[in-house]
Amino acid sequence: MKFFIDTANLDQIKEAQDLGVLDGVTTNPSLMAKEGITGDANVIAHYKAICAIVDDNVSAEVISTTYEEIIKEGEALAKLDPKIVVKVPMIKDGVKAIKYLTSKGIRTNCTLIFSPGQALLAAKAGASYVSPFLGRLDDISTDGLQLIEDIRLIFDNYGYATEILAASIRGPLHIVNCAKLGADVITAPLAAITALLKHPLTDSGLATFLADHAKASGK
Ligand code: E4P
Repeated sequence: MKFFIDTANLDQIKEAQDLGVLDGVTTNPSLMAKEGITGDANVIAHYKAICAIVDDNVSAEVISTTYEEIIKEGEALAKLDPKIVVKVPMIKDGVKAIKYLTSKGIRTNCTLIFSPGQALLAAKAGASYVSPFLGRLDDISTDGLQLIEDIRLIFDNYGYATEILAASIRGPLHIVNCAKLGADVITAPLAAITALLKHPLTDSGLATFLADHAKASGK
């Protein structure tokens, strides 16, 4: 399973990259705004800065919502760096644009997926990734993990190459459950990824090992 970090914060991206387990980054307009990145020149510079840190898979989301504009913006984003994946919203013009961008060899990530039918349409259009938002479904008392399971079944039924990028991850258990269900990728905040490291028995076990070693060594 691939691990993407869901942030536009360069320090957090560097920290995840240094951990050695990072396969990519997802951003969105809200995450860019959170970092205070506004204006075309700054946005472009920020995407380039992210691409300089990671090996591949930097999702850059279009702001446009019409077919022609999504294509224009998507092609411009893709030209910034070969690592860019153009993130396109699940709307009618977005699906059409995914079909076009795919035909031009540009990788796409269809975002804001909340139903299996939406994922099926995006896969048919040739999206490289679909991003089901499980946390936001959980937030409204709907089973986000069930959506991952349904999409996995559908994609496997027909052998779609589109990868399931489980998004809107809230914590480590979401990551583990997505892995059990066969999601191809998770994108998560740094805190959810590093929480996977933690277990109290690991901490107490290590403390005991070190104390026993010190005692035996006469320290
Ligand atoms: C996906 O690519 C989105 O950026 C993200 O996962 C949304 O998560 P949120 O629901 O925590 O905003």
